[in-house]
This record gives sequence, structure tokens and C-alpha cells, in this order.
Amino acid sequence: MLLGVAVCGLFLGVAAKAQQAAVAASSEAPPAARTASHSAATDALDFEVFKMKVEPIFLKQRPGHARCYGCHILPNRGFHLEPLSPGTAAWNDDQSQLNFQHVLQHVVPGDPASSRLLLHPLAPEAGGDSFHSGGRQFASQNDPDWLVIAAWVRSARTEAVSESSATGKVRIYVTNSASDTIDVIDPATNKVVQVINGIELPHGIVFSPDGARIYVSNEFESVLDVVDRQSGEILQKVSLSARPNNLTITKDGSRVLVGIRTEPGIIDVIDTTSLTRVKSIPVDGGVHNVFVTPDGRYAVSGSIEKKTATIVDLNTDKAIWVVKFDRAVRPMAFETNRDGSTSRIFVQLSGFNGFAVVDFAKRAEVARIKLPDKPSGFGIFEGRTGVPSHGIATAPDGKSLWINSTLANAVFKYSLPDLELMGYAALPEVQPLGRPPSGSVPEWITFTPDSKVVYVSNSGAESVSAIDANTLKQIAVIPVGEVPKRINTLILH
Ligand code: HEC
Repeated sequence: MLLGVAVCGLFLGVAAKAQQAAVAASSEAPPAARTASHSAATDALDFEVFKMKVEPIFLKQRPGHARCYGCHILPNRGFHLEPLSPGTAAWNDDQSQLNFQHVLQHVVPGDPASSRLLLHPLAPEAGGDSFHSGGRQFASQNDPDWLVIAAWVRSARTEAVSESSATGKVRIYVTNSASDTIDVIDPATNKVVQVINGIELPHGIVFSPDGARIYVSNEFESVLDVVDRQSGEILQKVSLSARPNNLTITKDGSRVLVGIRTEPGIIDVIDTTSLTRVKSIPVDGGVHNVFVTPDGRYAVSGSIEKKTATIVDLNTDKAIWVVKFDRAVRPMAFETNRDGSTSRIFVQLSGFNGFAVVDFAKRAEVARIKLPDKPSGFGIFEGRTGVPSHGIATAPDGKSLWINSTLANAVFKYSLPDLELMGYAALPEVQPLGRPPSGSVPEWITFTPDSKVVYVSNSGAESVSAIDANTLKQIAVIPVGEVPKRINTLILH
């Protein structure tokens, strides 16, 4: 959230210019290339990968499901597979070539989200088609077999993927905290267009200013994963002092700051050129979240145990002041003065359904704002009343502040700078069997760069809500992986 804001600000400002320069030099295919003929698309998809990895899925006995092969060898099927030769357990090369041609009729190279092969057998609640006579073969877009097919379809890079990134300029990234995946949403279609695999317990996520790299704090291995954005491949693992929590990046992109969860409290500093940990800055208490102020001058860390926020001067890398609260410090968001310097910090606290307001110049809390009592009734069955409100973010245009409430199962909108309540958007409900509906346990917030659409990760509902910032209507619910939490916006060129 604040993470979203800090980085959003970063990309909207200085970085956007740097990126524009980078675009001019890049050689991405013009959008017109999208209408490439079928034969070009055929060339774009790899036959060897199809034969080695994709075809075996059609033959495989997957628990609880009949095999694709069992039904799709029938001649009247739109999606047709060749019958195996008697006495063989796999297709020969000629048969595979035919299967390859059949399958190509049901894929859009480079675009899994538009490929019938992936959508038709996918569960409707995971973004798939409403009905398939062969059943919901894939319960989610994180199914390992689904991912293999999706990776193959997406790998039509030269012709297809670079086009789609040339046409779509923004991506929303969400880390699935109870999984090993990161979902990437295209806000133009509100569909998942890429899944990054192989980071177990991914926590925070930020981007290099040129958008080439993604940095993810990895709780399972206590490393910073450096990921190539285009391919989703992990380039390097930088070891951290101990188990991390959230992270952020300096405005110039030269250093990644990672909050370390253990006491007595440090922020690990990773140099993004050498990709090594160059120092650890002591702060007051184990770090839950760390942010860079929108002007890039300070880092701000929050501690649950010490109930403090520590402000670090990024010129000297020294803690310069600390704000003490009576409750554990949760997410934070920032408001800027006209000159870009920080005016206020909005701080969420454990056990409080609202937020504290810290005046940056006075270095002190000046107000505490409680969210409305209605709607209410959520968070009890979910066991989340101790964290009634998690996720707070300032819109990129600086005109509104958004705060999630687990008790209300909603996101509230306040105007800035006057902090007047402007309304709320209800979030999806979860329907447990035989019990009343429960809430989606919202976690973090990010925005499209024009501040028109707000994205909320619904950790208990395996989804991300896209909300119209003006009408407060939910415009899409995007199925993602297990317990989605950190969410952040990247501008691509
Ligand atoms: C129990 C039989 C059965 C199984 C098993 C089955 N399917 Fe199907 N599938 C069908 C039938 C029948 C249709 C056409 C009617 C429909 O769409 O429901 C179909 C349609 C499709 C289509 C759409 C084809 C078109 O014409 O647009 C795709 C793609 C597809 N299946 C993929 C798969 C994949 C991949 C698997 C395995 C992971 C699979 N199916 C397993 C019976 C099956």
C-alpha cells in the first residue's frame, strides 16, 4: 500500500522519464504486428516444449479428473487429439505434429488469458469458462499443469509477448503470500497475464526504475529474489540478515531496503548494481514494513513489538527520530506538501479500526481517525478482529486516502488534505459452507497511475478487487493465488 504509493510515486516521477528514454531505444514490435498471420504465430510457439511438457498433460491421469485424452480423441471434438498407435504410451513425432496443429487453433500465442485451451478447462471462479463437459480440470491458475501450458503459450515471446507489453502500459503485481507465485494483472483487461513461479512465501515486491527487474523479499529462504520481469526467471538470490518482511526501493533505484522481522530491528540495504547486501541500518524494533517517503529523502519503518515508527535519513543512513504509539504499528501512507516533501504520515495500528495522523514537521501524532461503525459484522469468523484495518494508501494524484477495513469488509475513501469521508466500496464476500457469509480480509492497496482504479488484495477470497475510484463500484474481481497480500503498480513502456 504505502509501498504501492512510494513506488508509484517513484515511477510516476523521475522513473517515468527514464523509462520513456528506454522505450525509445527498445525494439518492441508495433501493435500492428498483433494481427500477424497464423503461420507467424505457429513459428512463435515452440514445438519441442509442446512435445516435452505440454502433450504429456493431455495423457496424464490427474487426481479426481478424467484424462483429456479420453474424450478429445473423438473426431467431433473442436479440440482434437490424435489416437495413440496400438501398444504405445506416447505420440510419435508425426502424431505430435498433428496435435501441435490442433492445439494451435485454441491458443493465442503469448496470451494465456485469451487462449481457449487454458480458459475452457479452468474453473469459472478462477477466471475460466462457465461450462466444460470435461469438467473443471484446473481449479486455479496456480495449478502446476495449467502453469506449464500457460508458460508455453506465453513463451511466444518474440512475436507475441513483446507486442502485448507494447500495447499494455501498466501492470499490477500481487504476491500470493501462502504460495510460491506472483500474479501479474493487466489493468486494461483486468486479467492475469503472467504468473511468476518459484518464490515460496513471497512477501514484498518492488521494481527497478527501468522495469527490467523485480525485487521480492522471500520469507522462506531469507533472501531478496531478483527476477527478470519479462521471463519471470530468478536472476539472483541475495542473502539477508534474517527473515524479511516488507521491502522498498530508493527513488533513484540504487538501493533496495528490506525490513528484517527479528529484534532488535534493522533495515538491510542491498546495492542494486553489485546485488549484494552492503549494510544494515539499526531501527527501533523488528520491522514489519519499510517505506521511502515520496521525496526519496527518508526511510520510515514500523515495528509491531516496539509500537514505534522510525524515520531514517537516507543521506546518512541514520535513524533521526522515532514516533511512539500505544499500539503495534501496521501499514503507513504518506501525504506530500506542494514541494514534494512529506507533510503527514497516516499510520494503521493493531486493534484500531482507523488510523493515526503524524505531522512530519512536528514529529508527533496529531490526530486519530476512526472509520465509521457501519458496515460491520465481519472479521469475527475470520479471526481477524485484532487487526481490524490493514492496508492504507494515498492515490497517485494525492487527492484521496484509501483505507481497508476487515470489520466492514470494505475500503473507505477520504479526501485529502481535509480527511473528509467520501464513501466506501464493499469487497467480495466468502461463502463458507453452512455458515453466514464472511469477509475477504483485505490486505493492501494500489492504483492505476491515473488514480482512476483502486486495486485491493482480498487475502481470504483468493482475489483482487478493481474498484472505480469515483463511483466506488467494483468493476472486476480477479482470481489470483493463495492469500494475496502485497500489491504494487509498475508502468511499462
Ligand atoms: C469427459 C470428457 C472430457 C475431458 C476429460 C476433457 N474434455 Fe475438454 N471438452 C469435452 C467436450 C465434450 C467438449 C466440447 C463441449 C464443451 O465445451 O463442453 C470439450 C471442449 C474443450 C475445449 C474447447 C474446444 C472448442 O471447440 O472450443 C478445450 C480447449 C478443451 N475441452 C480442453 C480440455 C483439456 C485441456 C482437457 C484436459 C486437461 C479436457 N478438455 C478434458 C470433453 C472433455
